[in-house]
Amino acid sequence: MKPTNPNPASVLNNFAESLSQRELSILMDISTHIATTLDYREVLQIISDGISELLKTDTATIYSLQEDQSIYLEVATPTMSTDFQETFRYAKVPEHPHIQQALKTRSPIIIEDTSNEPLSPQEKKVLELSDVKSLLFLPLVLENELFGILIMGAQTEIRKFTPHEIRVGEMVANHLSGAIQKTILHQNLKTYKDTLEDQVKKRTQELEKANMKLVNKNQLAAMQRDELEVALEQLKVAQTRMVQTEKMVSLGTLTAGVAHEIKNPLNFIHGSYLGLMRFFKEANIEDKDAWKMLDSIKLGIERSTAIVSVLNDFSRNQKAPFKNCNIHQIIDNCLLMLNRQFDRKGITLEKIYSPQSMETLANANKLHQLFINILLNACQSIPKEGIVKIETQTEKDWLKINISDTGVGIKKENLQQIIEPFFTTKDPGQGTGLGLSISYSIIEDHKGEMEFDSEENKGTTVRIKLPVTKKNQLL
Ligand SMILES: Nc1ncnc2c1ncn2[C@@H]1O[C@H](COP(=O)(O)OP(=O)(O)O)[C@@H](O)[C@H]1O
Ligand SMILES: [Mg+2]
Repeated sequence: MKPTNPNPASVLNNFAESLSQRELSILMDISTHIATTLDYREVLQIISDGISELLKTDTATIYSLQEDQSIYLEVATPTMSTDFQETFRYAKVPEHPHIQQALKTRSPIIIEDTSNEPLSPQEKKVLELSDVKSLLFLPLVLENELFGILIMGAQTEIRKFTPHEIRVGEMVANHLSGAIQKTILHQNLKTYKDTLEDQVKKRTQELEKANMKLVNKNQLAAMQRDELEVALEQLKVAQTRMVQTEKMVSLGTLTAGVAHEIKNPLNFIHGSYLGLMRFFKEANIEDKDAWKMLDSIKLGIERSTAIVSVLNDFSRNQKAPFKNCNIHQIIDNCLLMLNRQFDRKGITLEKIYSPQSMETLANANKLHQLFINILLNACQSIPKEGIVKIETQTEKDWLKINISDTGVGIKKENLQQIIEPFFTTKDPGQGTGLGLSISYSIIEDHKGEMEFDSEENKGTTVRIKLPVTKKNQLL
């Protein structure tokens, strides 16, 4: 029987009125029980157990309808053992005509006496196993959709299902479909949520992996970049050194050659000059102009000899042994030589000498040359009036000499080049551009250091460091 009244609430009310106290209390139990769970199987089990108690049957089973014309045993009363094999849970609908009939008509089907009913071979097989005498098939409909079938069985005796019982079973089955649906919905949601969670987890893992790879790659790239930068810097330094050394070597060879070539003619000239002098004296020549000419020849020879000696210094032909040198004394000698140039420009000299003695083993000639170059540059950098300050200090095994001026300073772009041979910003005839490159090689010979601090229009400080060398260190 199917409810004909379209209003479910009133149907339920009429139906409730027809129920006995026992039936009502069992139904209440089922409802309360169902409310405690959202698990699909559990809800089906509660319905199966409840309806079997309600209709006083020995067995109850709930099958769900599958897509391929088969049904699947979801739960049973009495409860199935958990190791009930999956394959036995399936049954093909066409092989069970009574089930097929119930599903097709969506109405209850009753077999009152199984021994008196024509049965299909499959139906017989099932009955042999369960030994059921009477059967009630109740199709389960969820929202107008066939969901499955509820099968009640009486084992001990032939059992007549009264129309009331059938109605109760039908009503309960259909009414409880809401609960089943809720669990299905929940189940779907849960699956959906689990799938989502799985996907999120998977994506997160993938992202983490990708991120890790990226971080590793970044770190590697940063490391490689740092290494490359260091290598590049080293390469630049090495290259500059090489170019510098190359230049110095070729320049040295050149100047040594020139010095040697000039020295010979200079000797002839000197010899001839001495001869001329003797001749003039013996001949008692008093011509003033002639003597003046002789004097200028002498001056020329002296200057040329001095230049040859500087060239020799530069080409390092002159390998003078290191002797004890007093730096203060050497600087003072240089200042003496430059005295006139300083005065002419109105330069004030400030000397802040360290009270400690500043002595080291060195090539005195070369140190003179070094300080002359630096002091001369300082002097030349001051257009008119200014200060040249010389400060000395000892620090552990180092002698520190700072020479600063209030001159025009060095342009930033020139700072790298000033020690290059022939680099000069001075007018032709004013500078050769060799002073600092010679000074630099002198510093190198003495294992010292030289640095320049300069600001345009403010001045320049040259910081020189020379190691304190003692006799036993030279070997
Ligand atoms: N104290 C200084 N103040 C300003 N510029 C300087 C100073 N010392 C060196 N320089 C710059 O360095 C260049 C090279 O110096 P140097 O090698 O002594 O050659 P030169 O003095 O013959 O030019 C100079 O032309 C000048 O531009
Ligand atoms: Mg110079």
